[in-house]
Formats: sequence, C-alpha cells, structure tokens
Amino acid sequence: MSTHHAAYPALRLRRTRSTAWSRAMHRETQVSPADLIWPLFVTEGSGVEEPIASLPGVSRWSVDGIAARAREAVALGIPCLALFPNTQPERRSEDGREALNPDNLMCRAIRAIRDACGDAVGVLTDVALDPYTSHGQDGLIDAEGYVLNDATVEVLVGQSLNQAAAGADVIAPSDMMDGRVGVIRAALEEAGQGNVQIMAYAAKYASAFYGPFRDAVGSSGLLKGDKKTYQMDPANSEEALREVAMDLAEGADSVMVKPGLPYLDIVRRVKERFEVPVFAYQVSGEYAMIEAAVAAGAADRDAMVLETLTAFKRAGCSGVLTYHAAHAARLMGA
Ligand code: PBG
Repeated sequence: MSTHHAAYPALRLRRTRSTAWSRAMHRETQVSPADLIWPLFVTEGSGVEEPIASLPGVSRWSVDGIAARAREAVALGIPCLALFPNTQPERRSEDGREALNPDNLMCRAIRAIRDACGDAVGVLTDVALDPYTSHGQDGLIDAEGYVLNDATVEVLVGQSLNQAAAGADVIAPSDMMDGRVGVIRAALEEAGQGNVQIMAYAAKYASAFYGPFRDAVGSSGLLKGDKKTYQMDPANSEEALREVAMDLAEGADSVMVKPGLPYLDIVRRVKERFEVPVFAYQVSGEYAMIEAAVAAGAADRDAMVLETLTAFKRAGCSGVLTYHAAHAARLMGA
C-alpha cells in the first residue's frame, strides 16, 4: 500500500460506504440517459409490432412505430437510435442490392424519425449487407462462399451514401471489411455530407452472442457457416488495437467494441491507448441472458441493467448500445 495512506484502524474503507448520501458523494461513475443508444428493428407495414421470441420485450416496429419510439426516446433523454431492417425475403438477393434502394425500409424509417423529431434525436445506421443478402453474410461472396473485401467495400459506399441522403447522422459500418472507413469518409465528403459522422464497429468479434439479433433481422435461417473470415477471433486483443488504429487513421469519429461485457478489457485498452470516444454494444445475446435470468427468478432486472451500464462507463465507454435503453432511462428517472 502506498505511503500516502493510513493503516487500519486509522484507515477504514467502509467509513465512506456507511450511508447512502456518502456513497452518492464518492461515486466515481455516473450513468444517465445521455449514455444510451437504442437499437430498433424495422419491419414492413403500418401499425405493426412483431415481438421477437429470442429477445423477450423487444419488437420489430413498422415505420410509424419507429417514429413513435423516436418520440419516446426524445422524452426519455436518449440521444440516439440505431436502426436495423428486417428486409422482406423477396427483397433479399445474392448481391444485397436492396441496401442501395432509396426507398428501402431503413431510408423510410430515417425519414419518418426526421419528420417526427427533427434534430432532437440522432439516427445511427448500420452499414453491412447481412439484412439484404439471401445468404446472410455481411458482404458479397465468391463461388466458395468467401466474403470478398474490395467488391463489398464498393457496395458499402453506396449503402452509406444512400443512408446519408435519407438523413442518417452517424454511419456505423459493422461489416469488418478492411479499408471501408476511409473510402466511405471520402465519398461522404465528396457528396457534401461532411458533417455525417462515422462510428466504426472497429473491434467486432465473431461472437456466439449475436444469435437473437440474427432472428430479429431475419438472417439466422439464411446464414450458412460463420463470419470468422472477417469478424475478429475472441482470443485477440492486440489485433483489436490495430483495427481501431486503422479505422481512426481512415477518419472514424468514434469506435465501437462489440460484444460488450465480455470485452470490457478491450474497451479499457482502446480508451487508454487512443483517448477517443469509445462505445460498446451490449448485444442481443447479452440482453437475452439478463432476461433469461430474470425469467428463471435468478436475478433482479433493474439492478442488473444499471450495474452492467455502470460497468461500461467505468471501463471507459462514452456510451452503450443496449436493448434495455428505454427501460434504463426510466430507471434513471428520466
Ligand atoms: C451485422 C450485425 C450484427 C449485429 C449488429 N450488426 C450481427 C452479426 O454480425 O452477425 C449484432 C447485434 C446484436 O447481436 O445485438 N452486421
């Protein structure tokens, strides 16, 4: 122990913990609704709410419902929404070209949010082809099913420009292709979209925690094999720093680590090394684990939600993408 400290019994670390006011006064980390990004799933139709079995408590909403969720977010003080489309099966194709359609679900949802809320809430859009491909991979594939890097990046640029033209505020490439951030940044500049941010899913792992998400966007039944030739090996941490360095050098405004809780060591290393805004995605499987524990009578939801969010902030996150966002904001007294 450092010489700056007294020794027991002059030092009693329990002293400052003995009352609620004192604990509040000594708390090092605060969470507030401003720390939350709320992921939402969009589906066709109007007045439609489709519950997602593997994500109890989360639904897909038609565009009108998305606008209603956006108003709710504003009322709760949640600054940003993350959109994911459940594309109709007949609009999915080998090349994912629906991603380039200016009237696709994503673009309609962006415009509806803008109409409903103006600039009162940010819209973050996922860039990757998996909600649009008939094979469920995030990019274009060759005859062996290998995901092609440079050909995919070309489509991702088109997808990004399409989303930006519809009014997206933050482009979030989740595809893990090499070199995409730089090319997207340059294309946005050229298109006069210099203020559109890029939040790079920089350290995204090939994780077993994405299962319910793939149900939500309807790609789980389509996906053959895995995503290990582009998403990172969960065993690696040095490589995460290289991924982050690469995306920052190409012009990312902020970076993301994904999944969340099992990768807090990565959040901390990235934050200490780069001193940039770092976000974490508490992914679908993490949400499902909490809900399963609650359903089994093994956990207190509210306490778990707040404790996990506090852990993200303590590790160095600027914010967290979480399916519990609205519930958490209410717990925080929004
Ligand atoms: C796909 C994408 C995934 C998630 C966000 N974007 C799934 C995947 O990579 O297969 C997962 C989010 C979650 O599990 O909540 N580009």
